[in-house]
Amino acid sequence: MRPSLTRRSFVKATSAGLAGIGFLATGARSLYAAATGKANVLALKGGTPVRGKPFSQTWPLVDEREEAALLKALKSRNWCCIRGNAVYDFQKVFAEAMGVPHCFLTNGGTTALSASLSVLDVGPGDEVITTPNTFIATINTITNLHALPVFVDVDPDTGSIDADRIEAALTEHTKAILPVHLAGWPVDIEKIMALAQKHKIAVVEDACQSVYAQVNGKKVGTFGRTGCISFQEYKSLVCGEGGAILGRDDEFMRRCGAFVNNGRDPQRRERGYPFPGSNHRMTEFQAAVLAAQFTRFKDQAPLRYENGRYVEEALAKIPGLTPRKRYGGDTRPTFVQFEMDYDRSAFQNVPATRFAEALRAENIPMRGGPRRYSGGCHKEKMLQEHLNSAAFQAAFSPARLEKYRQSLRFPVMDGEKPSRKETLSMDSKIPFLGSRKDMDEIIEAVQKVARNVDKLM
Ligand SMILES: Cc1ncc(COP(=O)(O)O)c(C=O)c1O
Repeated sequence: MRPSLTRRSFVKATSAGLAGIGFLATGARSLYAAATGKANVLALKGGTPVRGKPFSQTWPLVDEREEAALLKALKSRNWCCIRGNAVYDFQKVFAEAMGVPHCFLTNGGTTALSASLSVLDVGPGDEVITTPNTFIATINTITNLHALPVFVDVDPDTGSIDADRIEAALTEHTKAILPVHLAGWPVDIEKIMALAQKHKIAVVEDACQSVYAQVNGKKVGTFGRTGCISFQEYKSLVCGEGGAILGRDDEFMRRCGAFVNNGRDPQRRERGYPFPGSNHRMTEFQAAVLAAQFTRFKDQAPLRYENGRYVEEALAKIPGLTPRKRYGGDTRPTFVQFEMDYDRSAFQNVPATRFAEALRAENIPMRGGPRRYSGGCHKEKMLQEHLNSAAFQAAFSPARLEKYRQSLRFPVMDGEKPSRKETLSMDSKIPFLGSRKDMDEIIEAVQKVARNVDKLM
């Protein structure tokens, strides 16, 4: 863009040439100023970055609320929930916030999942249908019960379990379906629930990474027989380590509550230890921090969503950027992870990696690249260890184990059919807690890079 441009000719040129791209969203005036100065030169090429400094990386956020809550728990001398109040009080608060009658807190998302599967009586010889694209904890909860994780390939557009492939994976041994809502993005949960109801199979939702994501007004983790949440410190609602089991079924949840507390009846109808169990209890310290964090999270979650929607809507006006696929009608991700599809043909064939590199120079922490799924839990060595263990050898015939070993190939997950789609993504847990000005800077930076994409070749 020539600096000698007049304002009138600039507006005319951009209106005519770029109107469809939504470049005028931030105002022709600021664009004119940007285009005529160093501000329009990509930071990667020595120009001034759109944002003066990177987004903060400080997480978790802490203030006097956590300090006071911790001190109160400490001084109470009731550090275990059996005599304390913090765990039981927050169970009520969280159940109500999630829209379910029951919540039991645990010492982690892993133990919340384990308890759910144990109460479902998943055990040796059983199969649990799940996704290879998850954190290994999901799979550990199945294999530790000496059941087989039956993997279903992922949807190439999202990396979530492909709900249309689940029915073919059902067998007489299927005890549960364990879908995972990854990084704040709901899976096709309504389709999975309909299928599960048709076949009378329980669903345990792994919503560990997606607290407050919603589908048609219902929060994920509240569709299945149980839903499990993680409060581990990298998540969006945190207390160091912690988890929750959510559910609607009174009797099933009574058993879950008992399971995490060494079999004690949470309704205290029976003395002693009427149910099977273990100790998955959360401490009063964790619950004290969690309750304090929740006062902040209640405002953060809607803010993150609003900011995510705002940025997505503005960027969707740029030809070549498309919102990530959603399942179901009103699907609301948490936007702890921002993601848009990137079509390089609209950007003079510049790869998404290069586009994102230019954005990072503008102090916008985007990543770019082809949509591919590396790894996969089916390839982890631990799975072979389990299959070779005495417990698995006792629970499954050699023929069944061999058939299972042979089945561990998934074209999409393994990249045999690499998708040509690329994405731009951002860990937005912290950035989307920013102000409207911060969001406008993200938008402006993407527009700037799009405008100057020819300089990236
Ligand atoms: C998808 C998924 N499932 C389960 C877990 C286990 O949660 P936790 O670490 O709280 O045990 C995690 C934690 O990262 C996770 O990401």
